[in-house]
Amino acid sequence: MSAVKVASGIAYDYVSGIRNQRVFPDAEALAGLQNFDKPLPTTGTNCQQVLEQLHSYGSPATVATTGGRYFGLVVGGSTPAAMGANIITSAWDQIALMEASSPIVSQLEKIAGRWALELLHLPSEAFVGFVTGTTMAHVSALAAARHYLYQKQGYDLAEQGLHNAPELKVVLPEEAHISVLKALRLLGFGRSQFIFVPCDTQGRIIESAVPEFSDNMILVLQAGNLNSGSSDDFSALIPKAKKAGSWVHVDGAFGLWARASKKKSALVEGVENADSWAVDAHKWLNTPYDCGMCIVRHKQALKEVMTTSAAYVETQDMWQAKDMLPEFSRRARAVEVWAAIAELGSQGIEELVDRCCLYAEMLAEGLESLGFNILNDVVINQVVAYLPDINLQRAMLQKVQQSGECWFGKTTWQGREAIRLSVSSWATTEDDIQRSLKAIARAIDEVKQQAN
Ligand SMILES: Cc1ncc(COP(=O)(O)O)c(C=O)c1O
Repeated sequence: MSAVKVASGIAYDYVSGIRNQRVFPDAEALAGLQNFDKPLPTTGTNCQQVLEQLHSYGSPATVATTGGRYFGLVVGGSTPAAMGANIITSAWDQIALMEASSPIVSQLEKIAGRWALELLHLPSEAFVGFVTGTTMAHVSALAAARHYLYQKQGYDLAEQGLHNAPELKVVLPEEAHISVLKALRLLGFGRSQFIFVPCDTQGRIIESAVPEFSDNMILVLQAGNLNSGSSDDFSALIPKAKKAGSWVHVDGAFGLWARASKKKSALVEGVENADSWAVDAHKWLNTPYDCGMCIVRHKQALKEVMTTSAAYVETQDMWQAKDMLPEFSRRARAVEVWAAIAELGSQGIEELVDRCCLYAEMLAEGLESLGFNILNDVVINQVVAYLPDINLQRAMLQKVQQSGECWFGKTTWQGREAIRLSVSSWATTEDDIQRSLKAIARAIDEVKQQAN
């Protein structure tokens, strides 16, 4: 049998059983991972056996992120078309450099990018590049930001390098996501260049605490705080920053998708006036990992940083991926974005966002009735809650995670150890929410009984 047939059969088997699979593997499944721990093989194994090993010992040890009851990190599942497109993309194995290396991928990158801009109501002239995720979108956009600001000052970074470069400052919320800090570090920015601005109880930057802007500043804002889901006040901040000549970059890893919902778009009003945006498709758009989008208004700046030219990759097209993004060789991620959008349409995406937000409210209500305090305003898909008895909370969390019924993790919010649940999957149903609440209630009861 062909490898593709075997793999498709295994993938089908896995996907059709996902709703009944434990969300986190049990001890037996984890012990089964020892089966992979073998010496380097000197001779090969039949392909079917290789794939069957993956299924026998690998599938049971997966975390069922696509099943509807995974509320950890901020993770979507995979829509059926996006997952199918991912499988087809593997079969195609395209070189996603430029049109000459793959006409189909180049075309789908353009269309998926245009659709994404429409869905997110961002400027149509912006460039959309497909990268591994928000972290690399930050790296790309912030590299363009630095180049652009230096160019305005008459400093040629590409020629002169960083050693004697003029000062640049980065203004960012105290609540900035760790990926922003990593991106800045990768680009050679140091902590002495950061101006951290205090945030309010929802993790929004406090406007009155923001320093005076200037043309040697990058302002980083958030659409969707990792814990609370709240967004900064873009309408108040961006015009001021832009007037002073600063570059505004938005971390919208998941929260930017609120733009796709009429009910929620007011929360991110004014975000369209920024210079660059980082957003994931593998979160709320529900494409498989890894897939993020780097969106930059000043595409010439991005191109000047990222360009790679050689006779063997010559192209007439101004905006090919190889000249716009950090990777040279890369996966054809846009195919999955195209497929998810084609499958759901703008209405389906709006319904997905609204449904997740509604389920987050249901979770918050259910948790409150179980004795939790809700720490955040549940404005989109995030719920942060705590039990007044911290030992009960810790034991409950461990029991829920061990139960395999659902999965969520802990966080620290406003100095308090709490639990955080994120509803981002197209697969989550109301039944999943109720089932998860029951698992939490059961865990609390069991811990209390054990204590007596
Ligand atoms: C607000 C925010 N920014 C950035 C990231 C990093 O995204 P990625 O893991 O796709 O690089 C995350 C991931 O959860 C996030 O929630």
